[in-house]
Amino acid sequence: MGANPQGERVLSGMRPTGPLHLGNYHGALLNWVDLQYRYPCFFFVADWHALTTGYQDTSKLSEHSREMVIDWLAAGLNPGVSTLFVQSQVPEHAELHLLLSMITPLSWLERVPTYKDQQTELHARDLATYGFLGYPVLQSADILLYRAGYVPVGEDQIAHVEITREIARRFNHLFGGGIDFEGKAEKAIGQLGSRNGRLYRDLRRKFQEAGDASALEKARAIVQNNTRITVADRARLLGYLEGSSISILPEPKVLLTPTPKLPGIDGRKMSKSYGNTLGLREDPDSVTRKLKTMQTDPSRARRSDPGDPEKCPVWSLHQVYSDESTKSWASAGCKSAGIGCLECKKPLIDRIVTETTTMRERAAPYEENPDLVRTILTEGSEKAREAARETLDEVRSSMYLRGHYYGHA
Ligand code: TRP
Ligand code: SF4
Repeated sequence: MGANPQGERVLSGMRPTGPLHLGNYHGALLNWVDLQYRYPCFFFVADWHALTTGYQDTSKLSEHSREMVIDWLAAGLNPGVSTLFVQSQVPEHAELHLLLSMITPLSWLERVPTYKDQQTELHARDLATYGFLGYPVLQSADILLYRAGYVPVGEDQIAHVEITREIARRFNHLFGGGIDFEGKAEKAIGQLGSRNGRLYRDLRRKFQEAGDASALEKARAIVQNNTRITVADRARLLGYLEGSSISILPEPKVLLTPTPKLPGIDGRKMSKSYGNTLGLREDPDSVTRKLKTMQTDPSRARRSDPGDPEKCPVWSLHQVYSDESTKSWASAGCKSAGIGCLECKKPLIDRIVTETTTMRERAAPYEENPDLVRTILTEGSEKAREAARETLDEVRSSMYLRGHYYGHA
């Protein structure tokens, strides 16, 4: 864990839309597989998120979840290393979602770009629901529940992580004082001794009222040089100087996934909704057939016509799959009409069939025995719940929502 001495957690999720394709693999999954050996990772099936747009027919939800998780395992996610779980099996997500919803201004949600975009794009469904508007709050709960430091996502999710940061900041501002933070800080000032206590107050006021940075430095030194106060009081006094609070929900950072543009077989971006995908576990015959008919540079109508790789989606596949010498062979052969398109596709077909065959082999035990998948998810969800409960405990007590405040243990 050399690159990550603090052991900061990584968290990400995917909505269960069914089997994944090679675009999902190269765009997200491959990155997850790599991250799991560098950070403590939590990856989950966002099945409640799937409900926000797909609430009318939920009958395929569990099948889609299972197929997606088999794809995760096929891609090399290792359940002995990463925590793989299902959102709806960790009800703590719902509790944090509810609490965060209380402090999230409507205007923040209305200005999230995906809100209006999706409503326009998916106009066939009625998305004027409370749940859909709350999509980013649920996502914030997902992330903050694990106090994740990093969230690996594509560009389309940046706005969601940004609002997560804003919600965390607001939460910490409202409740991060802890129970009677000011009272305790004032008491701690008393521990500094009368002379230093007076000095501390004086410097704090100079910093807070006039932004005097050297006053802040001096006050910090007074606190840090005092060996008689407790560690907790020291932290309190340092926090109190800036009027800030203790951060209960840390702000996560985006880990932007470098996404190679993987074209589908019609040349447009590979996407389930275009029906132009190559499945992660697609069988070799079908992969071969699809690639043979894949769109090429339209100006190469005849074998003898020279082509332009820049205008050819097959060339974009070479960028992802081929080494330098194969690429220069393909590019030169295309421009001089020295090779035909089928010839150009041959090394790609080999590479992609090899890739999907590896995936099929890794997936086979899970396809044959779905109970294995269920066990992985049940165990993962239990592990996730432990981490989630720790956060929720602190969240509840910071909001005075613990039983004993009402007179029972
Ligand atoms: N909204 C994400 C997507 O559509 C899925 C998701 C839900 C997610 N909760 C998350 C991603 C938390 C990262 C972190 O891709
Ligand atoms: Fe595309 Fe290759 Fe044909 Fe050129 S030779 S048009 S790069 S498939």
